[in-house]
Amino acid sequence: MSVKTVYLLAILLSMTAIMAATFIPDTERSDTTLTRIETAAAPIRKDSVASVKAFASVYKVLMSPRCMNCHPSGDIPLQGDDNHLHTMAPRRGSDGKGLYAMKCANCHQPTNSPGLHTPPGNPDWHLPPATMRMVFQGRTPHQLAKQLVDPKQNGNKTMEKLLEHADDGLVLAGWNPGEGRSLPPLSHDEFKKAWTTWIKTGAYAPLNGKLLQH
Ligand code: HEC
Ligand code: HEC
Repeated sequence: MSVKTVYLLAILLSMTAIMAATFIPDTERSDTTLTRIETAAAPIRKDSVASVKAFASVYKVLMSPRCMNCHPSGDIPLQGDDNHLHTMAPRRGSDGKGLYAMKCANCHQPTNSPGLHTPPGNPDWHLPPATMRMVFQGRTPHQLAKQLVDPKQNGNKTMEKLLEHADDGLVLAGWNPGEGRSLPPLSHDEFKKAWTTWIKTGAYAPLNGKLLQH
């Protein structure tokens, strides 16, 4: 072997080692998730690149006002495209349906009220409960992806349940937001496709732009 070939081999080998080291922690991380969800009927085809790419689309929707306003970091819902605190400050309460006389359903009817600045409607309008707050506001893509698949934080949901959530009534409400409100950045079809791809390719969490950060 010439010296040149030896150098080339050494470079190739170290590149392989670096690439392997880069991917190992990510794989280990999602294995805990995967052992749990792989038992479900839908097959998982692990692909960290496709998964992370799909989550970028999912994240854009989750952080849009129609979704984030019900997924606040505090116990008061948000309003408007600027995510300001809900006027009159209704609170989450233990079941997410409001506290004392300020029940969500007092104002939020089963369907959208007509006119501008009126309450959007849904028969089930409420925040996530106090035991599973499911905060989106302020979460990085990495944090949010991990939170969504963590059984301790998502109310012990199986992959099946998570997949089904794409068609949840409150999710669909985001695409029927009432007069004067902007729509999420993707169509519901596009969102559902990205959500499904993210989960079925292994529900990988993006690394916040920094390699090996967890
Ligand atoms: C009216 C309030 C409300 C709105 C608006 C809302 N959500 Fe939620 N969201 C909830 C509640 C309540 C839960 C908890 C569901 C449960 O109890 O399991 C939840 C949970 C979730 C979860 C966690 C998965 C799960 O099964 O719990 C995801 C993902 C989610 N919502 C996505 C969205 C998206 C996407 C939108 C916008 C298109 C949206 N939400 C709009 C109230 C809302
Ligand atoms: C006293 C009446 C009242 C109560 C009680 C109330 N809301 Fe509202 N809510 C409204 C009104 C009115 C609007 C529309 C405000 C606007 O568009 O300027 C609204 C808007 C919202 C929005 C913004 C929707 C969007 O797409 O941006 C969310 C989220 C929301 N309410 C959640 C809740 C939750 C959750 C509860 C219970 C914890 C609740 N509200 C209790 C009157 C109420």
